[in-house]
Amino acid sequence: MIFTVAIDGPAAAGKGTISRAVAEAFGFAHLDTGALYRAVGVKGGDPVLAAQTLSPADLARDDLRTLEAGQAASRVAVIPEVRAALLAFQRRFARRDGGAVLDGRDIGTVICPEAEVKLFVTASALVRARRRWLELGGDAAERSLEDVLAEVQERDARDMNRTDAPLKPAADALMLDTSELTVEAATARAVAQVQARLAQM
Ligand code: DC
Repeated sequence: MIFTVAIDGPAAAGKGTISRAVAEAFGFAHLDTGALYRAVGVKGGDPVLAAQTLSPADLARDDLRTLEAGQAASRVAVIPEVRAALLAFQRRFARRDGGAVLDGRDIGTVICPEAEVKLFVTASALVRARRRWLELGGDAAERSLEDVLAEVQERDARDMNRTDAPLKPAADALMLDTSELTVEAATARAVAQVQARLAQM
């Protein structure tokens, strides 16, 4: 069965958690496409070459989740040749047999416009910054909440304003604002959406 769930949205909106839960619920494969850009960003050297030669070892680095890696990812993600080098792999993954969930910025608009379910997961910048800051240790973190908020806003602006595949909801995406939802409630809505679409097939 070919069935793609596209989950897009800004940094720290809850895409990753929701995507993993949806994949688990239906036995679909999951691809965190942000990790591809993070791996290119932290690899250094020529980003186009890095994207063209990305290996499983690059994706297994344990420094991919840092704020710096997120910024580096957002910077290389504006380069059209970087995006082009990562496109075929993501498309193949999306249409693999057995169902796939991909989360990113352009899955429903560019990578898989034919996705059976498209969700655009958002939350206010402050809510997203607070979540990221708590993940980093909250009061024990090296960064203040204000720093993390500035970082989130800078990354949002770059991701939304780039020319190639900017962050924006697909016309047919279901909007899911998680600002005032628990993880469980947000996940339940996403799962219900997929269930409803599967029932029509
Ligand atoms: O989802 P994330 O925070 O891991 O993504 C890191 C950066 O990678 C994000 O700021 C922009 C870029 N990205 C992208 O341009 N397209 C995607 N499909 C996924 C991520």
